[in-house]
Amino acid sequence: MNERMLSQLPRLLDELSESGWALMPQAIDDIDSSALASDLDRQWSEGRFKNAHVGQGFEQSEHKKIRSDKIHWLGDDDPELSIQYWLNEVKDLTTALNENLFLSLSAYDCHFACYDPGDFYQKHRDRFRNNPERILSVILFLNKDWLTKDAGELLIFDDENPERIVAEIKPENGSMVIFQSDKIFHEVRTTKRRRLSLTGWLKSSPRF
Ligand code: OGA
Ligand code: MN
Repeated sequence: MNERMLSQLPRLLDELSESGWALMPQAIDDIDSSALASDLDRQWSEGRFKNAHVGQGFEQSEHKKIRSDKIHWLGDDDPELSIQYWLNEVKDLTTALNENLFLSLSAYDCHFACYDPGDFYQKHRDRFRNNPERILSVILFLNKDWLTKDAGELLIFDDENPERIVAEIKPENGSMVIFQSDKIFHEVRTTKRRRLSLTGWLKSSPRF
């Protein structure tokens, strides 16, 4: 685990267990988030991104009212060093989360996401109704010098009172947000500038 993450880890663990979510500013170095952003851009220009979908049972026309971002799923076999670096960080983070919060996280799925100006994702939670595998959501932002006027904040709602906004997070380069996938309502405000992120889920395999 890199130094920045390591030094912020105790606070992250405390906040996550106390309020169900935590923000870690500058979880990775600028160089590493910029490398991820340029690999995202290359995959974008190769036409790999698709319109994102929401849970099951929605028509395509309804999707667009809920979210309008474009995504590209990543995998272990992605050769880019930037992605391998991130997967390694997540592996170390997973070990720390399992040891300290007594979780049994065993898998990680992630995708790049791009919100063009005008794109948004309405208030939602991340766990699907018919699939309990998603335990923690992990979002890494990949945007340099994000300004207040760019909007596109990630809103986090109180776990006990989901009408109350408890944080408006700028999607600033290298910042990482973690929250409980089943509990925490969140939303992406309509962005005014192209907004990049790497969003993933730490999962537990169902036990039978
Ligand atoms: C998601 C999501 C937020 C973001 O993909 O489920 O809430 O800031 N993303 O990219
Ligand atoms: Mn979400």
